[in-house]
Amino acid sequence: MTSQETIAIFEKYVIGNYRRFPVSLVRGEGSYVWDAEGKRYLDFFPGWGCNLVGHCPPRVVKAVAEQAARLIHVPNTWYMEPQGLLAMALVERSGLDAQCFFCNSGTEANEAVIKLARLNGKPKGRYKIITMLDSFHGRTFGALSATGQPKYHQNLEPMLAGFAYAPFGDLDAASRLVDDETCAIMIEPIQGEGGVNIPPEGYLEGLRKLCDQHGLMLIFDEVQTGMGRTGTWYAFQNFGVEPDAITLAKALAGGVACGGLLAKTEFAAKLVPGTHAATFGGNPLACAAALATIDTIEADHLLARAGRIGAAFHARFDALQKRCPLVQEIRTRGTMVGVELSIDGTPIVNECLKRNLLINCTHGTVLRLLPALNLPDDALQAGCDILDDVLLSYKG
Ligand SMILES: Cc1ncc(COP(=O)(O)O)c(C=O)c1O
Repeated sequence: MTSQETIAIFEKYVIGNYRRFPVSLVRGEGSYVWDAEGKRYLDFFPGWGCNLVGHCPPRVVKAVAEQAARLIHVPNTWYMEPQGLLAMALVERSGLDAQCFFCNSGTEANEAVIKLARLNGKPKGRYKIITMLDSFHGRTFGALSATGQPKYHQNLEPMLAGFAYAPFGDLDAASRLVDDETCAIMIEPIQGEGGVNIPPEGYLEGLRKLCDQHGLMLIFDEVQTGMGRTGTWYAFQNFGVEPDAITLAKALAGGVACGGLLAKTEFAAKLVPGTHAATFGGNPLACAAALATIDTIEADHLLARAGRIGAAFHARFDALQKRCPLVQEIRTRGTMVGVELSIDGTPIVNECLKRNLLINCTHGTVLRLLPALNLPDDALQAGCDILDDVLLSYKG
């Protein structure tokens, strides 16, 4: 089918809740995807952050094929080896005394942790959760209510009660919001959708202290930052601040749908039978894919590579900033790259697409790249050449 034929089917049969590029993608390999017309694109934003080890990573492809032939899905009324092994792998790499719950997406992982925080706070009558402005936690009502961006709440009110929002990076503001009914603080250690915002020095440590003083859970939403994206398995290891619970999804299973919650055992114990569930959560297929993703990251030494990729992007954008007044600020941590522009980023994204480079723009003016940890050096430089050219030749 041509891209146009696929688009025609979408126009008739698929609900139009996404803005889509006018291209039908049919194949992927590493940091490249191909459209139905055979055109190749370099992908600096593979799978919206899900394809952390590239498109169709060979170990994941093999693990999924083998697992699919053996056992695709059984309910959580049974034990299944891949789920147990995945929980063990995630907990061991966290260094925490923790246990896991599995679901299928980031928003679901956050629903689970919101319930956990409330269950933990219930005996003391605590249910409120402090989250941050410009945060993004998902689209279901709990996670959406946690999301500190009014534009996502618009026309869907009322939101779930019990959320209060503090500006990201402002410890005093968070501290002023704590009251006798507060049970948790929930934060992305680096805000992704909000513009790749890196926390100021001492901020996460300050939140940890605040939680300890008031008996609150500290929850890190690592849906975007987790699984090696920032050069450590979890971003909290980058900052040396231990949360009580972590949520994961996106890159967890190398592009296969999988979400997870890691909670320290004292809190995990609150999720007793009947409190929470997900029919597909932790199915053998997704867990086999996740285990193969972890394998790939380790066998190919990709945690170390994340830092090198981040440094290479930073150097390229630094050099560009000296020549291009549109570039305001560069924010990188491993393969999370944000470039703040003085203009709306949409025309830049569209021009890159015309030149076969896929990037993203978030928060209006921030170009966001979430490249694969195994992006080759020559592809990195070639993509940056295109970005240089597009930004330098922008006429407005
Ligand atoms: C930090 C964070 N949390 C939660 C989510 C929601 O994840 P999902 O789209 O898998 O529900 C996202 C998605 O972008 C995210 O970036």
